[in-house]
Amino acid sequence: MLTRIGVLFLLSISVTFSLAQSPNPPSAGLALTPPMGWNSWNKFACNVSEEMIEQMADAMAQSGMKDAGYQYVVIDDCWQVSRDAEGNIVADPQRFPHGIKAVADHVHALGLKFGIYSDAGVKTCAGRPGSLGHEYQDARQYAKWEVDYLKFDWCNTSTQDARAAYALMRNALDATGRPIVLSICEWGTAKPWLWGKEVGGNLWRSTGDIRDEWVGRTKWPDGSCCANGVLDIIDQENGLESYAGPGHWNDPDMLEVGNGRMTNTEYRSHFSLWAILAAPLIAGNDLRSMTAETREILTNKEVIAVDQDALGMQGRRVKQENGGEVWVKQLKDGSRAVVLLNRNEKEQEIRLQWEDLGYPHHLTAAVRDLWEHKSLGSFTGEFSAKVAPHGVEMVVVQP
Ligand code: GLA
Repeated sequence: MLTRIGVLFLLSISVTFSLAQSPNPPSAGLALTPPMGWNSWNKFACNVSEEMIEQMADAMAQSGMKDAGYQYVVIDDCWQVSRDAEGNIVADPQRFPHGIKAVADHVHALGLKFGIYSDAGVKTCAGRPGSLGHEYQDARQYAKWEVDYLKFDWCNTSTQDARAAYALMRNALDATGRPIVLSICEWGTAKPWLWGKEVGGNLWRSTGDIRDEWVGRTKWPDGSCCANGVLDIIDQENGLESYAGPGHWNDPDMLEVGNGRMTNTEYRSHFSLWAILAAPLIAGNDLRSMTAETREILTNKEVIAVDQDALGMQGRRVKQENGGEVWVKQLKDGSRAVVLLNRNEKEQEIRLQWEDLGYPHHLTAAVRDLWEHKSLGSFTGEFSAKVAPHGVEMVVVQP
């Protein structure tokens, strides 16, 4: 016969089990390489609509982006306006007259995947209804709409615990039975690299927002810190490499390539560095009207192959000298992808030594230029290049 204590004990075990993640949730095996796609925020902010999103999906399919590996079309903030009497989230009827499911269907029909945005707090960053208290209800709604990816933000969360909030949303998503990528967006505040993987996050923002600038941090209107230029982000990202791997990635924020405030040299550097960092490659420009140069950057298959390498190692900075830097990422076949970065205002020769790569000096290796798409020949012990101001030389060194 069970005693009262025994019953309590069994009850507490079953509660513990139901809160823990099941060993084989539907989200297992997602994002084995860094997610690639497009998101509305960097270019359009709150100016989203079904027409624009569907056109962007069409452009992704037609422009060579899909062929290059881009997959997720994600609506960021401002698609939602209220909750109905039952608490269901309501999409803006003016901007999404056919509803979110119709947009998802359009995206899926192109062989792409569909993503959406919400927030762990009472309101999103743009003041729309957040998911607090509605996590399971929202997850069920997303699954009904056939959502494949959720970016979950952190504004208006008061004293909520980040780890618990994201674990709750992951459990809610998994409970629907649909595999949904969870993109944790709490800007590195509670060091999500320490717990993001454990709570089932597939990527986590490790910094504040990116801005379309090469360098420089600016405070938000409320005085909090900061929006970051490309160089500010890579400086914060370096050192986090041990936390990234297949299924769980550090996210230095979405791409600004093609948004107009950097030069093409700087955009090429931005893209190369994101690839070395095994960062999610989420384009943030208008795909309907991009220039040939922007398209060439975003669809450089050799650079994308570095980002998407199956080993899933995030690269790191191995040398810093007078504004010249060497960043290295080990690839699955044992070769190394390398970015020589010139932060200076004038051209600079940057030297890479095999020891920087973990190779012995006497080794002879082939060097291939990933932007020129050509082999540069065989080198022993070292390789150097003259790098343009704010530019990179990106190579693979293959013994
Ligand atoms: C935060 C996020 C951004 C974007 C906006 C939307 O700032 O970090 O990426 O999602 O909110 O309001």
